[in-house]
Order: sequence, then C-alpha cells, then structure tokens
Amino acid sequence: MIPADPHRPTVLLRGVTKRFVSHGNEYPALTDVDLAAYPGQLQLLLGPSGSGKTTLFTIAAGFVSPTAGSVALFGNELHGLGPRMLQRLRAMRIGFVFQTFLLIEAFTAAENIDLQLRFAGIRGSGIRERSLEALDLVGIPQLAGKRPNELSHGERQRVAIARSMAIDADLLIADEPTASLGTEQGAAIIRLLHSCATEHGKCVLVASHDLRLRAFADVIHTMENGRITGTEQGGAR
Ligand SMILES: Nc1ncnc2c1ncn2[C@@H]1O[C@H](COP(=O)(O)OP(=O)(O)O)[C@@H](O)[C@H]1O
Ligand SMILES: [Mg+2]
Repeated sequence: MIPADPHRPTVLLRGVTKRFVSHGNEYPALTDVDLAAYPGQLQLLLGPSGSGKTTLFTIAAGFVSPTAGSVALFGNELHGLGPRMLQRLRAMRIGFVFQTFLLIEAFTAAENIDLQLRFAGIRGSGIRERSLEALDLVGIPQLAGKRPNELSHGERQRVAIARSMAIDADLLIADEPTASLGTEQGAAIIRLLHSCATEHGKCVLVASHDLRLRAFADVIHTMENGRITGTEQGGAR
C-alpha cells in the first residue's frame, strides 16, 4: 500500500460516467466527471437532489464501478484491485460520515469505534484507549457509554467522524452530513470536518445542497444533472 503523499491526489476520478439501466432505458447519473482531491483539503460537492453526489461517492469508494472512466484511491487504480484488497482499503483508509449513520444501535459510541478499529486490523489492549481519544477529539468524551438512540443527530455525526479519526483514515467521505441538523449544530459539524483536513491532513469530501457550507470549503464543485459544471475556490482559502 502506498502511504499518503501531499502531492498525490487521495482521490482521482477521470472521465467517470455512470449509467443506470432500468426497464431497458438508460439513465445517466454521472457524465464525464473529473475530480482530484488532495490531503489537507475539504472539497465540497454542491448540487440539488438527484444531481449525482451520492453516486459519485459510491464510485469514489469503490462500492460501484463506473460505466466508463477510471478511479484511483491513494495512487491505486481501483479496477486493478480485487474485492478483498478493495475492502481492506476501505476498512483501513476511508471513513464514512453518512446521513444514515451506519452506527450499530446495540453498541455504545465507544464500542462502535472499537469495532471499526478491529475491522481495520488493529489488535491489542490499546483499542478502547484509541476510541476514547477519538471521542475526545470530536468533543464528546462524556458520551462514550451512550448508545446511538440516546444521542442527537449531531452527536451521532461526531461519533462517525471519531470513528474515521480513530483508524486514522486518509479520506473522509461525508454525504449530506448537516442535513438533519440545525444551523448551529450543522456549522459545528462542518467546522469539525474542516479541522480534520487542516489540522490532521485528511482529504475530506463533503456533499450537500446547503450553500452555507461554501465558507468552509477549500474547493467547491457545482453539480447539475450528473456533471460538474463549475469548480472554484471556497471561502476557507
Ligand atoms: N441504483 C440506482 N439505480 C437507478 N438510478 C439511480 C440509482 N442510484 C441513483 N440513481 C439516479 O441517479 C441520479 C443521481 O442520484 P444521486 O447520486 O443519489 O444524487 P444526489 O446524491 O445528488 O441526490 C438520480 O437521477 C437517481 O435517481
Ligand atoms: Mg445523495
């Protein structure tokens, strides 16, 4: 595995097109998308519902193959990797902060993070300590023993971010991370994601239709109908 290098894109999409086939008709979800995102950057995909943001993320993380074009993660071309290698890459190097929180309801916040560390191949007695450190980093050390249904939406997002930071993921993918949050809580989550990029050198990709997030991004891509129609510097630079 190739380690993170500030000059090599963490994610590189070239000419990515995705067409879904339904009842014999083809629906283009993404058309000819190019994107390069680097360590230390927060890049924002801004576009209305249906513009292709989630599809782009599922392709970038290797869950879905593009119809055309190529995807490289950390310098590895995905089409050349077998499913086990891809799964390992995801477990060890990618953190997901999704709207459906992907937390296990029967486990506490700390146990959810412990589990991610085990998936990432980390063994030994230091696991719980690492989980607690990560919860401290995202500002909720006191909630380690709470189960997801005892947490607010914002707190759950923090647990998901802590989980990514615990494994020291190089790439954080956040799909509509502020969607179910109020203004203050949403701003706190996006500031936290931004600090993952600026203070910890992570590459952070955020999808949203919330224009307020522009101020926290280094790079903003506007998406419309499956295309990136514009790329500009964001307010964080
Ligand atoms: N599995 C799928 N099968 C068929 N069409 C899909 C599938 N996933 C997404 N789409 C279509 O692709 C387009 C982009 O969807 P999506 O990536 O979810 O957009 P966004 O996340 O920006 O709301 C939409 O028209 C959606 O209906
Ligand atoms: Mg979506």
